[in-house]
Amino acid sequence: MENFPTIRMRRNRKDDWNRRLVAQHEVTVNDLIWPIFVKEESGVEEIDAMPGQFRVGLDSVVQHVKEAVELGIPAIALFPVVPEHKKDAMGTEALNPHNVICQATKLLKEAYPNVGLIGDVALDPYTTHGHDGIVIDGYVDNDESVRVLVQQALILAKAGIDVIAPSDMMDGRIHAIRTALDNENLYNTRIMSYAAKYASGYYGPFRDALNSSKHLKGDKKTYQMDPANSDEALREVELDIKEGADMIMVKPGLPYLDIVQRVKSTFSVPTFAYQVSGEYSMMMASFEKGWLDPDVVILETLLAFKRGGCDGILTYFALDAARKLQARNK
Ligand code: PBG
Repeated sequence: MENFPTIRMRRNRKDDWNRRLVAQHEVTVNDLIWPIFVKEESGVEEIDAMPGQFRVGLDSVVQHVKEAVELGIPAIALFPVVPEHKKDAMGTEALNPHNVICQATKLLKEAYPNVGLIGDVALDPYTTHGHDGIVIDGYVDNDESVRVLVQQALILAKAGIDVIAPSDMMDGRIHAIRTALDNENLYNTRIMSYAAKYASGYYGPFRDALNSSKHLKGDKKTYQMDPANSDEALREVELDIKEGADMIMVKPGLPYLDIVQRVKSTFSVPTFAYQVSGEYSMMMASFEKGWLDPDVVILETLLAFKRGGCDGILTYFALDAARKLQARNK
């Protein structure tokens, strides 16, 4: 108390110009990655558990991201919605060079050559059991899964995906994918590794979006991380950096900002967080009830990611946030 009233912390908060001057962190459009869901069938359908997000047909995907591109969002992350008849136990459709993601990639690259495209590497959208890899005797087999995931990554890269994003959590897959890409001269294809991905309940609405929740046998605890652990996240990240990851992701986002902060301060690598479907749905539900104000809470939440150490955020709010940022700058 001895310095009071000489030191008054509120002085720097008194005026808008002063608050702007001392602001330490900022969200800009350059921090945003928008995940979208694409399907082969024409038309656009809203996802029940994710109001404002859609399963978008190939006929509509270019139009769907137009505004995001015009607002300057640097990258789009693509996820496939796969019809039942194309799913099997091996996720064969993931290796079809004409699958929905490869087609969407070509359409989007042609329309918007300067937008980064991020392709998810994991088999769950394509498998009847809903797991990210190959199941042998009831267990997701690591090395067999990696063999298939490497093929999936190559197919995506050859279709024009700029950033391979393995979300499967198999051991050793970053090195295997990096080696395979380099062997094909795809040395500029980047890898954004889901390095610390937790076995989380917050993925529920995403699995609904993919129609994969009704399939999932058991859970993903033998490959995704235990939410009880944080030191383990640092080991995962360290390995993925050594194996050749260019960017690191932590997932989910807001409930795991402690992990983001430790990763960023320990490794100083490009670090991202995925504000996942459950986080989005939770907030949307509150907005619909009128309990939270989207005009304040969306950007506040994204700012929290920046403060926590994120270089960028994968968020279903990307388009909305970009609009709000543009309106604020006018
Ligand atoms: C699966 C994958 C998941 C998400 C992204 N990739 C779900 C899961 O691991 O079951 C979740 C994204 C979200 O919830 O928004 N490879």
